Amino acid sequence: MGTRAWWRDCVIYQVYPRSFQDSNGDGIGDLRGITERADYFSWLGVDAVWSSPFFTSPMADFGYDIANFTDIDPSYGSLAEFDEMVGALHARGIRVILDFVPNHSSDRHPWFLQSLRSRRSKKRGWYIWRCPSPGAGPPNNWQSMAGGSSWEFDGTTGQYYCHTFLKQQPDLNWRNGAVREAMYDVLRFWLARSVDGFRIDAVGCLAKDEQFRDDPPNPDYHEGDPPFARNRMVMSANGPHIHAIIAGIRRVVDAGARESVLIGEVYLKPGELAPYYGATADGLQLPTNFNLLWTPWRAAAIEDMVEAYEAALPKGAWPNWVLGNHDQSRIATRLGKHQARVAMMLLLTLRGTPILYYGDELGLEDMRIPQDRIRDPFGLNMPGMGQGRDPQRCPMPWDETEKAGFTAGEPWLPVGTDKPGQSVEAQRGDRGSMLSLTRELLRLRRREAALSRGDWSRVKVEGEVLAYARSFGKMRFVIVLNLEARPKSVRFPAPAIGRIALSTHGHRKAERVRQCLELAANEGVVIAA
Ligand code: GLC
Repeated sequence: MGTRAWWRDCVIYQVYPRSFQDSNGDGIGDLRGITERADYFSWLGVDAVWSSPFFTSPMADFGYDIANFTDIDPSYGSLAEFDEMVGALHARGIRVILDFVPNHSSDRHPWFLQSLRSRRSKKRGWYIWRCPSPGAGPPNNWQSMAGGSSWEFDGTTGQYYCHTFLKQQPDLNWRNGAVREAMYDVLRFWLARSVDGFRIDAVGCLAKDEQFRDDPPNPDYHEGDPPFARNRMVMSANGPHIHAIIAGIRRVVDAGARESVLIGEVYLKPGELAPYYGATADGLQLPTNFNLLWTPWRAAAIEDMVEAYEAALPKGAWPNWVLGNHDQSRIATRLGKHQARVAMMLLLTLRGTPILYYGDELGLEDMRIPQDRIRDPFGLNMPGMGQGRDPQRCPMPWDETEKAGFTAGEPWLPVGTDKPGQSVEAQRGDRGSMLSLTRELLRLRRREAALSRGDWSRVKVEGEVLAYARSFGKMRFVIVLNLEARPKSVRFPAPAIGRIALSTHGHRKAERVRQCLELAANEGVVIAA
């Protein structure tokens, strides 16, 4: 074994670039804004920044609809500003991870415009075109994740094209070798500009059923779930040939000059996630693990899930954890602001690479967006989906001024907090703040190998709390988390446990823990055992 891969010990911070920092007063965050905030990442103590897309785009899906995969959208900056950003982050030892969106392009991409022209167009086969079904409707029952059918009819050529997301996001045909080569070139372009890896958007969607069979109904569908969840996406995505596709991408990335990471967006249960690591280290290094998002927030359920995930990991595979992203309601809204602190302690003390969503370190909640300011097409398209994803994408509050230091202009969405005291500026100096807690946790994690690379094991205690240990060599930490809003008495099997290294309720530092531990409501502690 050579040296340990950097992405195993790192903490990744996700930036939604439109909402992070505006540098030119147009109300939209940009690359120069990220560069200006480079010191914040170091101060906070994260090791890598993954940014959602900032490539040329008509912004139908705010950058996830790309019209040129190898250029920067003018609203975000230029390639020169991109290089500056990478330089500024690298100078601070922070890696840069890009969002790679291989499943679709924008409908304004020159490839699609050419594909649209005629059935005989050279680029026709770059997208997924099908004739109407015998009954004259769409070719099958596949549902778009942005609402409605996945198929859009083109009257001029008499065929439908497939779009797993918006109709402005036509799916590329990954069975076509020329498409694969073109997308490999995209990766090579950015690798040559010194990036450290990619998060692959909607990666499972690259593998669709060759015979275009219907998706079967989803027996777990509940009223109120988004319409696409009525079916199980086993034909429209996640086909068995996905692993060969990923292996192809991995070969390109492994051939780059820097050691790079591939993260993949996969919403799967522990057992289903495992194959995405690849059979022979030719898969994703970090197939995103979203299981904390949907596991009931109860000690036993989470312990069982962590154990199942750990057990499902192939040999040598490294775990990862996510509490939120630009598609999910914020953790402080889902669990409440007190429990969000416990959740942060969990995220940063589990075994595996944590991916931290911007603003969660401030305990930001979903914003209520006035109806006339809703921008997310997913929200606007799907009745019953409320405000879509805007509430979790609001601009970062840097200070307590009216525009929160995000912009000098009119912010594209309301700034991320309507309460005083939630900004970075206000929380920085407050030792009891969520920001201070997050930073302390990150420091502890950085200092203690047991917390970054140590083993994970369940600790059996009396009392309904989540308890586990992390150990590395002689070092051992025990983490005890009260997931409820009432005090708990915990009893350990051993007479002496150790000293509290950190509590969500600050004041307990260095307190000795013996067989019994009293936890306040919503309290979590890390004990140096
Ligand atoms: C992924 C992204 C989401 C986007 C979609 C289409 O799920 O996370 O934001 O809308 O892909 O690219």
